[in-house]
Amino acid sequence: MDRIRIVGGQKLNGSIAISGAKNAALPLMIASLLSRDTLTLHGVPRLSDVRLLMRILGNHGVDAAISGKRAGQAFDNGDTITLSARDIVDTTAPYELVAKMRASFWVLAPLVARMGEARVSLPGGCAIGTRPVDLLLMALERLGTQIEIDAGYVVAKAPKGLIGNRIHFPKVTVGGTHTALMGAVLARGESVIENAAREPEITDLADCLIKMGAKIEGAGTSTIRVEGVTSLTGAHHTVLPDRIEAGTYAMAVAMAGGDVLLEHARADLFQSALDSLTASGAEIIATNEGVRVKRNGAGLRPVHVTTEPFPGFPTDLQAQFMALMLKANGTSHIRETIFENRFMHVQELARLGAKIKLDGDLAIVEGNAALKGAPVMATDLRASVSLVIAALAAEGETMIHRVYHLDRGFEALEQKLGRCGAEIERVSER
Ligand code: UD1
Repeated sequence: MDRIRIVGGQKLNGSIAISGAKNAALPLMIASLLSRDTLTLHGVPRLSDVRLLMRILGNHGVDAAISGKRAGQAFDNGDTITLSARDIVDTTAPYELVAKMRASFWVLAPLVARMGEARVSLPGGCAIGTRPVDLLLMALERLGTQIEIDAGYVVAKAPKGLIGNRIHFPKVTVGGTHTALMGAVLARGESVIENAAREPEITDLADCLIKMGAKIEGAGTSTIRVEGVTSLTGAHHTVLPDRIEAGTYAMAVAMAGGDVLLEHARADLFQSALDSLTASGAEIIATNEGVRVKRNGAGLRPVHVTTEPFPGFPTDLQAQFMALMLKANGTSHIRETIFENRFMHVQELARLGAKIKLDGDLAIVEGNAALKGAPVMATDLRASVSLVIAALAAEGETMIHRVYHLDRGFEALEQKLGRCGAEIERVSER
């Protein structure tokens, strides 16, 4: 297992190319199941989750290939993926695969929409809480699917096809909205999705589905209308830039100091996080090429944040912002309202010298921390990158273990930070 070694104290200067969004690439890849024709996705991030999903889709009969090699890169390292689901040979998604990546549960909707049946393992718990799928199943039931749970599997049947309906979500859910959309596009008649998630990744999926021939209006708002069609075609689509990766590096620059251009980043996709960074004292400049983040000399101010569905402050940037607030010149309050138990990073940050008190969904973060490098453990994707941010400002060496969590969501992290002057390297364990 690899580790990442960081020696803190270097400023970050230069530019970082932001990759395509993991959270858009995964549902887009899954959408390939909806058509017999080829879906070509450009700008797909090179991540272990993407590779794993290719395997999972391959199991269903999807022919998946990577191309788009750049000069000097390994053959299998391109960022264009073609996916052809001409013949779906298996409608079962087994436990061994779904347990490794929760988002693979989302194959349920396109499989039942196109094939009239699917058998998908329940994903089980994960490090950030219970993460139920009741609302995803509700959406499919509203579209006429019969759902049974059998031996840890969801068995979904709609032998005569899905039927359009009104789907009202009592709580905003990204996975639920993806599921409703992918079901409704092939259902007979009209569907209305109410209290839909407004995350940019939903809009990206809808944009791609529209290119495939779907009739969708209102994606990006809380009411989405879908007029079902009988079949979808292939399409070419470029994955939108990763707002979470961009926000993470913006926080890294605010923490370490310096001046970095986040190439391809779109400020409108993470404005609430940028506003919090500005309030803390970082300088943010949106340009045609991306978003430039600067902090030279000035200290950081404490800022209170509460995580919310888009366009609010994203839960996927909560851990990173908490790391930044360790260096603010006062106490900040960070409230997590999306996931229970998403404070796993607190214990590890404490190993670096952080003083954070937890009170239910509230973290009270003491600023002016004297951070000192230490061995720490990555616990989940976003938690682990908060350790990277803290380590950039810690005195001495931090060794981060279990970096496979980072590899799930951050492409070439050590190269991207290293090129900007961070002292960071990957150490392979024998
Ligand atoms: C997606 C993102 C994840 C992000 C999250 C919230 C991907 C691959 N993952 O996860 O990075 O942190 O959105 O922005 O895109 N809930 C239910 N019942 C359900 C489904 C969800 O109660 O059936 C609850 C969840 O427990 C949570 C809330 O709804 O409290 C939001 O979860 P949801 O938006 O569905 O998250 P994911 O789609 O799993």
